[in-house]
Amino acid sequence: MRRLFPVTDETAARASGGTPGRDGADGADGTDRADREWGLEELAEAYAYPAGSAGPSGSTGSPGPSGRQPWLRANMVSTLDGAAQHDGRSQPISSAADMRIFGTLRGLADIVVVGAETVRQEGYRPARAREDFAALREAAGQGPAPAIAVVSASLDLDFSLPLFTSPLVPTLLLTGAAAAPDRIAAAEKAGAQVVIAGDGMGVDPARAVRALADRGMYRLLTEGGPRLLGQLVAAGVLDELCLTVSPMLTAGDAQRIAGGPPVAVPRRFELTSLLEEAGFLFSRYRRT
Ligand SMILES: NC(=O)c1ccc[n+]([C@@H]2O[C@H](COP(=O)([O-])OP(=O)(O)OC[C@H]3O[C@@H](n4cnc5c(N)ncnc54)[C@H](OP(=O)(O)O)[C@@H]3O)[C@@H](O)[C@H]2O)c1
Repeated sequence: MRRLFPVTDETAARASGGTPGRDGADGADGTDRADREWGLEELAEAYAYPAGSAGPSGSTGSPGPSGRQPWLRANMVSTLDGAAQHDGRSQPISSAADMRIFGTLRGLADIVVVGAETVRQEGYRPARAREDFAALREAAGQGPAPAIAVVSASLDLDFSLPLFTSPLVPTLLLTGAAAAPDRIAAAEKAGAQVVIAGDGMGVDPARAVRALADRGMYRLLTEGGPRLLGQLVAAGVLDELCLTVSPMLTAGDAQRIAGGPPVAVPRRFELTSLLEEAGFLFSRYRRT
């Protein structure tokens, strides 16, 4: 994997065949990390949440009782022509390095927020505890694995799935106050924790972020899908986008990474990091 941005001595040194610089880009063993697969520890360092999660423009205004603010990042993959899935799944447009970053972002998160359709289509399972992140998570005061929070109005989900019955950390269901009581009861019976974050059927994105922070979850990760991400963008609660650009063209009319009605004024983000492996670009943008 290579770091293309920020442009460092490392990048310049590689391009000119010179000696790598002293910017911390070398591995502890003295090898240049441009030339080899990055370890999960290095990726975790590269993708660390802002200190105190969150940064200066935290999503929800006033900090919680601990003085921390939530930081909501999204992790999405897109083809060159903007497709966010192929044949209903993101796996065909992903890669091994993309999955390492996907796993790293989960390893750093308190909770993974995901739309119900992605859960249904991708067959979501509970996040697992990974040895590689155990020490890091313990030091950060996190449990062994992130919880999953499913966003749903209908609660039309199969509550007999391991996602609900046997996660390491109870799965949350974010829904509206008007959700069907029998579906709420079924979810709770299966072991899920239902969080009301909207007055009607739907979830209000800002209220959802606040509700998670109220439960002590500040390092938030959303994995989409596009319909959910579009609402997070529109509500102005998205702090960061980790976007993998897959070197593929699929044509067709697959969804883009964010759907729904367009925002009145495009949201501006700035590039903070760009990595490359095997033609896949791993970008990291934060809102300005
Ligand atoms: N490229 C990528 O990185 C990526 C990432 C994720 C998913 N995907 C792909 O995207 C597709 C699925 O995405 P999608 O956009 O169709 O669906 P989605 O965003 O995953 O889920 C939409 C569903 O989430 C619930 N929902 C969304 N907003 C809500 C709100 N404000 N309040 C209450 N519930 C809300 C609703 O569930 P109910 O219907 O239960 O009410 C809605 O039907 C799949 O093909 C998947 O492979 C790609």
